[in-house]
This record gives sequence, C-alpha cells and structure tokens, in this order.
Amino acid sequence: STARIVVDDAYEIAEIDPRIYGSFVEHMGRGVYDGIYAPEHETADEDGFRGDVAAVVRELGPTILRYPGGNFVSGYDWEDGVGPKSERPERLDLAWRSVESNQVGTDEFLRYCRTVQADPMLAVNLGTRGMREALALLEYCNVPGGTPASDLRRRHGTAEPYGVKVWCLGNEMDGPWQLGHKTAEDYGKLAAQTAAAMKVVDPSIELVACGSSKPSMPTFARWEATVLEHTYRHVDHVSMHMYADPEKYQDTADFLAAGLDVDEYIRSVVASVDYARAAGRHSRHLSLSFDEWNVWYNSRSRDVGHWPHAPRLIEDTYSLAHALVVGSFLNSLLRGSDRVRMACLAQLVNVIAPIRTEPGAGEVWRQTTFFPFALTARYGRGTALQAQVTCERTSTSAHDDVPLLDVAAVRREDGEHVLFVVNRSTDRPVTAHLDLRGVAADGRTVEHTCLTGPDLDATNGPGRPEIAPVVAGRTPLDGEAVELPPGSWSMLRVA
Ligand code: AHR
Repeated sequence: STARIVVDDAYEIAEIDPRIYGSFVEHMGRGVYDGIYAPEHETADEDGFRGDVAAVVRELGPTILRYPGGNFVSGYDWEDGVGPKSERPERLDLAWRSVESNQVGTDEFLRYCRTVQADPMLAVNLGTRGMREALALLEYCNVPGGTPASDLRRRHGTAEPYGVKVWCLGNEMDGPWQLGHKTAEDYGKLAAQTAAAMKVVDPSIELVACGSSKPSMPTFARWEATVLEHTYRHVDHVSMHMYADPEKYQDTADFLAAGLDVDEYIRSVVASVDYARAAGRHSRHLSLSFDEWNVWYNSRSRDVGHWPHAPRLIEDTYSLAHALVVGSFLNSLLRGSDRVRMACLAQLVNVIAPIRTEPGAGEVWRQTTFFPFALTARYGRGTALQAQVTCERTSTSAHDDVPLLDVAAVRREDGEHVLFVVNRSTDRPVTAHLDLRGVAADGRTVEHTCLTGPDLDATNGPGRPEIAPVVAGRTPLDGEAVELPPGSWSMLRVA
C-alpha cells in the first residue's frame, strides 16, 4: 500500500503546551510504595525515593505530575501526610481497600517533582472534604508564611513556598464509585465556590474542573454543561479521562483504531465546553486537561484481599499493540493541541504504567509503551502542524473508514520537522511519500526511528527489553519514500 503525507508549514494548529506530556502518581497499589519510593533501596535519596527509578522517570520525561489521585484523593486527609514521618497515622484507603501509611505526602512529592524535573498538579479532596481543607492545602503550599498552614510548612523544613500552579477540583465526581460522588448541580456549586476562594488566596493558579470520567458515562456532555454553568468564570480547564480497554474491542485491528475514539472524544468535549461558553455569554475559551489516559484492562476483576499495604494492583503488562495505541493517543493530543493544554499518562510507575519495578530491590524496566511516550515528549515540541494524509482506508468490526496511517506533525523551534506515524495495519506495509511544503528539500535527511516487531502481542519484562525503538534508516528527503512496517510506530525527523 502507498500513502502520501503532505505537511505545509503555513498550516499551523497551535503552539504545543509541553504540559500535554504529563503523567500521574496516585497512592494506589505499588505506584508510590515499592514503586517510586523504597527507603531501603541502595539508591534511595533522603526522602526515600529510588534514584534508579527517578533516572528512568527523567528519561521518560513527563513535564507535569498529577498527585495524589485519582479515586484515592476523595478520601484523603492531606494533613496525615505532612510532618514527622513517625507521627503520621496509618489509614484505611477506601478507594483501593488498602492501608495507607502516609510515609509519602505533599512535601515529599513536591520535592520529588524537582528531582525528576516535572511540575506538580495537585488534586484537592472534594469528595469527603470541601473548601476549607482545599484552602488550607493551598495555603500550606503557596503562601510564604505568617499564617497557620504556611507556618506549619516552614516548621516542617520548607521556608520558601512551593508555588504549585495547577490544581484539580476533585476527581471523577460524576462516578458512582467515587467517595462522595455528586450530581452535576451539587458538584458545580461546590467547585465554583472552592475555585473562587482558591483564586483569592493565589490568583496565579490554574484550576481544573472535573469533566466526565469517560465518554460512555450516561451523563456525559450534560455533566460538562451543568458543571460549567456554575464554574465557567472561575476555572481554566475541564478534565477528560479515557482508558482504551483491549477487551472492549472485538479484535486487534479494531483495537488499533482506538485513536479514532480519542479524536471523537476530544471533539465532543470541545463542543460541550463551547456550548457552555455560548450559553453563559463568556468570551474566554477554556482548555482541556486530558489528565488520565492510557490502555487499561479495566474490566478485569481485582481483589486485593484484606486491607494490604501497597498490593500489586492493575500492573498491566503492555504489548507492542498497546504501545501503538499509546502512540495514537499522543497523536490525538498533538492534533487537538489548540484546545488540549495538559494531559497525563495514567500512571507513572507499576500501576498501568510505562515503568515497572520488581518488588523489593528488584529491577526497574521499561514497558513497550515507554518508548512512544518518551520520544514524543522529547521531540514533539514546538508548533503542531496539520498533516494531510492520503492512504488506504479500511473498516474494522466497530469502526468504519479507518485510515491505515495515524499521523501527527510538529515543527520544532530549530526548524526541524517531526512526524509521528502509526501504521495500524496488522498485515500491510505502507510506503509513505513525504511532501513537506514550504521546506527546502536540499540536503535534508529523514531519520526514521521505528518501534515494531513480528508479534503484536510481544511484551517486555525484567531483563527482557524485546520491544524497543531502532533507527530504521536515514534517507534524503527529496523523492525518497519511507517504508512503514505493519503494526509499527514511527518517528520521522526531517533535519
Ligand atoms: O488511574 C486509575 C483510576 O482510574 C483513578 O484512580 C481514577 O481516577 C480512574 O477511574
């Protein structure tokens, strides 16, 4: 099969917000404990975070980290996680039926962000708590001193305020599984009041209102409209969450078309948010914070037993096919970058994560999904451009009219162009001809980095880095075509 990819330098989508390459650290399973944190480990820092894991996190390159949940936050008392570790209580975590030791809390996490060179995105508990506790946490983090919460932080050893810029007003408050879940009306009022007060404490912050927790929620779109009726003036972003569950697709070909659902979801949330803008006579545009996304076998049952601490929980092992869908998610974020300004791959370590650790002092290893994320986060910076793609189209069991190629294009600040291309076909290679307009071809080369393999079900494991990107070739830009193997993710750098 052949294809043509035309990219015209004049057709810009938007400047890419680097925060679309975020990730998510929830107190859940072995995400924190036995994941990023293992105080007995030989590489542990003063806070107990594993240095070898932190190095791999830096290699992954998330720009912003959401914390501490997730469903966990709706039962969380942030006060439990600050101050001397020996005095911190153990609590039942009702979201994940585990015991939370509170040995990691806000101060440790905010220091970890510095270690891994990411900005923090903190969520406040609007499930079992409310405005007062949210304000106290903001005061603890961002007020220089002279007030009870800020002086508490100073007593805990941090004189300078952290200046946390991004705050989520609760988590998935539309979900019946959420502790303290609310109607859109009730959540909208609480979020609006909390947001308004938080901006009095610190007008420089950005606030994220909870959108729907997935597009299949029965209240989807109406939820956004009602919540924004109350909150529009006070917030800056609306959240979106989506997990592609391979078991909800009929077969691999259909699963590889999941990116079409992501594009459709972004379009629908933009429509709902813009409806609220028009209905409320607002002039400001809100942006989207796609702050949980990934592949997740979400429908599989999970039983953690009787209140364990840091059990193995949703440690999905990812295949090559899963990595291609992660690549498609990232392409959708780039194509939607005029409205999507933040996004978080959920999660970071062990829990549906690109990075895994073996228990105890065990090895840290990279899943297949690590690579499309790390490379897109590193090279997908600058301005997103529209790519016009002419290629064969097909139908899968649940998707009509699926283009074989999923493409996103970027112009970097130094003038380099980068294309990210998923060949979704399970059996057909595609010969792609590149037509970069407004770009002189003379002397330019295309460097082709490719993640592929003969088996779409192949996975990585400790000591088994089977699926990893390779530089597949360097060719002159002019007239040369690029071979995209079936079932592949490619990065084409034109320099
Ligand atoms: O990421 C795992 C869980 O998925 C989060 O806690 C929740 O917000 C979502 O349902």
